[in-house]
Amino acid sequence: MPAGLLGIEILERAEIEAILERAKDFQTIQNQPAKRLDTLRGKLVVNLFFEASTRTRTSFEIAAKRLGADSVSITAAGSSVSKGESLVDTLNTLAAMRPNAIVMRHAASGAPHFLARHLPTPIINAGDGTHEHPTQALLDARTILDQRASLEGLRVAIIGDIAHSRVARSNIYLLSRFGADIVLCGPAPLVPPELARMAPGVSITYDISEAIRGADVVMMLRVQLERQHEAAFPAAEYFSFYGLRLDHLELARPDVLVMHPGPINRGREIASEVADSQRSVILNQVENGVAVRMAVLERILG
Ligand code: NCD
Repeated sequence: MPAGLLGIEILERAEIEAILERAKDFQTIQNQPAKRLDTLRGKLVVNLFFEASTRTRTSFEIAAKRLGADSVSITAAGSSVSKGESLVDTLNTLAAMRPNAIVMRHAASGAPHFLARHLPTPIINAGDGTHEHPTQALLDARTILDQRASLEGLRVAIIGDIAHSRVARSNIYLLSRFGADIVLCGPAPLVPPELARMAPGVSITYDISEAIRGADVVMMLRVQLERQHEAAFPAAEYFSFYGLRLDHLELARPDVLVMHPGPINRGREIASEVADSQRSVILNQVENGVAVRMAVLERILG
């Protein structure tokens, strides 16, 4: 394992497999009454979040604690970042407190990669701009593999704001590496054609029915309004063209898995009946977030 975890693109296939396998052990621990292990006792994990987060931050914190490590979380709003401190100074300050890893989320693509070159502390990328969100792709893969023998040959439709999605990019790298066929779908301004060249096995359609037809997995994405600075996107009509409704699922395989990294916007990109349906594994994704992040922390700090 490299010193930290910056992205799926640069992660070896064997590393991915090892993390997914180890996460299975942690899934079972989650169901036991006593969930705390001693593996990382005496270690310190600092979570530094420059962007909003519910699932990722909480699950990293829980994962560290379940392994016996100490963990503290800082958000930009409550830190000296709001007093004008630079990113490098903030990180150097935190590194001086000798954490064993820093988990960070930042709006700038490449921010964790830049810091990893300047700091001795392992950096774990919890989402950098529109670039990567590696632990999300790992927990998504774990969730699919809980219900399917392999990723090979699966048809995965990723629907929504692909252009601004680090979740989509990390999933494209991971799923294509394991032989899945990926179809990207959304309004043209949010699905630029060059995305089809990101990895083998990736295609694009602007028709949601076509994307869903025969799909094993339908992965919905939130429209990242906070990352859209161009006024090319007709938000009002979005649901009627690209929202996932129950009747769409009839086009997919009967055992289709409906996924969403969260936060979901009901009635915007996904109908409530679908989010709450038997086909939805959205909360399984959240649950696996803890197990997968335990596996990642153990590999980096263990
Ligand atoms: C995603 C993120 O922040 O990239 N959420 C998450 O980590 N589960 C997706 C999003 O914000 O839409």
